[in-house]
Amino acid sequence: MTETQGTQAAPSRRALIGWGGAGLALGAAAAGGAVAMARTGDDMDPAAAETGGAVEFHGAHQAGIATPVQDRLHFAAFDVKTEDRDAFVQMLKDWTDAARRMTAGKAVGEGAYGGLAEAPPDDTGEALGLKPSRLTLTIGFGPSLFDRFGLRDRRPEALVDLPQFPGDNLDRARTGGDLCVQACSDDPQVAVHAIRNLARIGFGKVAIRWSQLGFGKTSSTTPDAQTPRNLMGFKDGTRNIAGTETDRLKKFVWVGEDDGPDWMAGGSYLVARRIRMNIETWDRTSLQEQEDVFGRDKREGAPVGKAKEHDEPFLKAMKPDAHVRLAHPDSNNGITILRRGYSFTDGTDGLGRLDAGLFFLAYQRDVRKGFIPLQRRLSAHDALNEYIQHVGSAVFAVPPGVRDSGDWWGRTLFSKEA
Ligand code: HEM
Repeated sequence: MTETQGTQAAPSRRALIGWGGAGLALGAAAAGGAVAMARTGDDMDPAAAETGGAVEFHGAHQAGIATPVQDRLHFAAFDVKTEDRDAFVQMLKDWTDAARRMTAGKAVGEGAYGGLAEAPPDDTGEALGLKPSRLTLTIGFGPSLFDRFGLRDRRPEALVDLPQFPGDNLDRARTGGDLCVQACSDDPQVAVHAIRNLARIGFGKVAIRWSQLGFGKTSSTTPDAQTPRNLMGFKDGTRNIAGTETDRLKKFVWVGEDDGPDWMAGGSYLVARRIRMNIETWDRTSLQEQEDVFGRDKREGAPVGKAKEHDEPFLKAMKPDAHVRLAHPDSNNGITILRRGYSFTDGTDGLGRLDAGLFFLAYQRDVRKGFIPLQRRLSAHDALNEYIQHVGSAVFAVPPGVRDSGDWWGRTLFSKEA
């Protein structure tokens, strides 16, 4: 089978590198370097977005945070299985090489065929012929990683264990993880291929603890794009930090030089929550109640008393326990997070109910000043709580971006020099 088989209209993944790479290089030159162009989201050539082009892997920040949100998600949390620090560091380097190739639309290593007949191929092969599809791979380090490899004194103060919130019903099998990789792409097969190949490279050093597939992005980091709807049928992501809002990203998302520790400068903190929706109960709820729960109308997404989705909300017009009223920065001393969640449906639960909901992903500069106080308020008062339950949870320190072709994921953490 050839790479282009079955993709007559589309150039192959390998063929795309030619123009994709050239386009990115030109973009980098125009913007004054790969770092400047890469991570704010405004680097994305709209044409590349439409054609499933490649997102630059290198930059000051990791891709997949401020990058315009792709349609699909495969998120994996891993447990470390080795005590050998050198072996783990080598795996991070191997992962980086593979991530660099896969995000550019290339196969891992020597590819899926053509190598030694006696050995398994380097790449599993299911992404051959597919476009890069804006694949981004974002790595994070969980609190438990810092109990290993002599990293205890390198754990960021901001990487706290999340407290138990009222109503939490966490499944241990879907909670925690020593590290994570968030794969986002417009093609689910490209995202799944990426996680699968990283897991394969990590065999013996790490093992997947839990994973989550997501679809129908429930947030937008592209201001002019149409706001997607969540599984409750409401527009979700109306008020969010856009990938183009450099100042707000700096203020609320990226860890600053003075925040400490040094190795996290340019990074961020990720909270992941698997939030199950009681879909069947919601579907029997009146439209008025549904709109009251959010404080926005279902058709337009406009705040109560306003006509348009992007009109400034008048919080006092909403019910005191409305989700938007409680989550709005004005009700929380300005707290602002970048939401990047996806819907999920994982079959049924054995009782005839859909196991569906929102896989909530939020990036912030400090969880203690972001998700935690926000969720304390929501978990105690939100009208939405009647219809949802948090069933999985994890928090990760997301290191800064990989600078160039000689750099690797986690270098600032594992090397002496930052
Ligand atoms: C299944 C659970 C959830 C659903 C269905 C949901 C849905 C929504 C919807 C429909 C909006 C209004 C549109 C928008 O501005 O994006 C919204 C806003 C928001 N939500 Fe949620 N949400 C959920 C959980 C959470 C959680 C756990 C947090 C944070 C701890 C959160 C934080 C926010 C924030 C900050 C806003 C924007 C408020 C504003 O600035 O007006 N949401 N959510």
